Amino acid sequence: MIYLDYAATSWPKPASCIHALEHFITSVGSNPKYSLHQQARVGEDLIDNARKNVAKILGVKNYSNVIFTLNATEALNKVLWGNVDRGHRVLASRLEHSSVTRPLSVIKKRRRIRIERIGDIETGIISPEHVYEACRKEPANLLVIAHASNVTGTIQPVEQIVQAAHENNCLVLVDASQTAGVLPMKTDKWDVDFLAFSGHKHLLGPMGVGGFYVADPDKLEPVIVGSAGYFDFSDEIPLDLPYRFEAGTPNAPGIAGLGASCEGLLEKGIQNIRKDQQFLIKKILEEFSRIPGVIVYGPSDPRMRVGVISFNIGDLHPCEVGEYLDQKFEIMVRTGLCSCHWANEICGTIPDGVVRASLGYFTKEDDVELLIEAVGMIATEMPRSICSQASQAT
Ligand code: ALA
Repeated sequence: MIYLDYAATSWPKPASCIHALEHFITSVGSNPKYSLHQQARVGEDLIDNARKNVAKILGVKNYSNVIFTLNATEALNKVLWGNVDRGHRVLASRLEHSSVTRPLSVIKKRRRIRIERIGDIETGIISPEHVYEACRKEPANLLVIAHASNVTGTIQPVEQIVQAAHENNCLVLVDASQTAGVLPMKTDKWDVDFLAFSGHKHLLGPMGVGGFYVADPDKLEPVIVGSAGYFDFSDEIPLDLPYRFEAGTPNAPGIAGLGASCEGLLEKGIQNIRKDQQFLIKKILEEFSRIPGVIVYGPSDPRMRVGVISFNIGDLHPCEVGEYLDQKFEIMVRTGLCSCHWANEICGTIPDGVVRASLGYFTKEDDVELLIEAVGMIATEMPRSICSQASQAT
């Protein structure tokens, strides 16, 4: 079986992650924040270790400013609901995932905010000029950008965008769901205000872990409040980090697993992971361009994209192609709109979407060669009748 669905979640998980998860459940077990006994302290240390490892991968010095959540969607919601106030004007790239567009749409109804999509109409790429232009028209409070698109793989020039936004007093939220763990990140140096990450994608942790980084906690209202495990004499929340934004019992086994995965990533070096992956991306792009009828979306330069390769084959429905890859070749990909209709608008792939192959840490050259061979066979040989069972799901 060839797993090429890392943009949805990574699989398999590293042995160190599975071991840490099991160890927490079988040998630690206690609730880390609330008690002071030995077992609880062991748990607290494991969570601390995970926080430090994630902070290193993100390029963040103040590791207490890394907050754990259930997933990136929760992290993005917490930042959007906690920062965007009534009447605000929010700028967003044209490549945002539903985990940004849907909360923004609900906030728009409840808080009467204005939302403007910015960036190149054909590629979705934002240049500093787009930011200056949007802010010249009217001041903006927040700009949201997916560091890399989960459909086109396009990497946005975060550092230049943040600089342009800050020159216009606009804060920036970066959605690093598709980049944390696979692209070298310099969150501090880039001066990012908020950054959301997924723990179970390229950080190789288990599902049920994600989080966000907050540069200035005073620019964010906590959305979920409750017990922090101390400060129990008051109904006010404690102001210190990370507890200000982490109420209730955490997914401690999951966080311990994430900490162990991140250790492995740091040992290998994100730069090396990126280099290996860029080689595979280049190979797919080159080989796909030689197959008649295959259209690939997103930048043709492998340096401008992560390992998300969305494509279509002639007029075949993407779900048909996905089903055929699954049933005949045992290649797992995602098909349809991939939770992101904005990016599909850019690609011109509404309503059917795309076939999305996404690479990750354990993807080998052999896997990519089999994908290329399978796509070549489908493009040249697939009789339309084989596709008759195709799924309707997008
Ligand atoms: N956000 C995930 C994806 O794009 C689930 O597939």
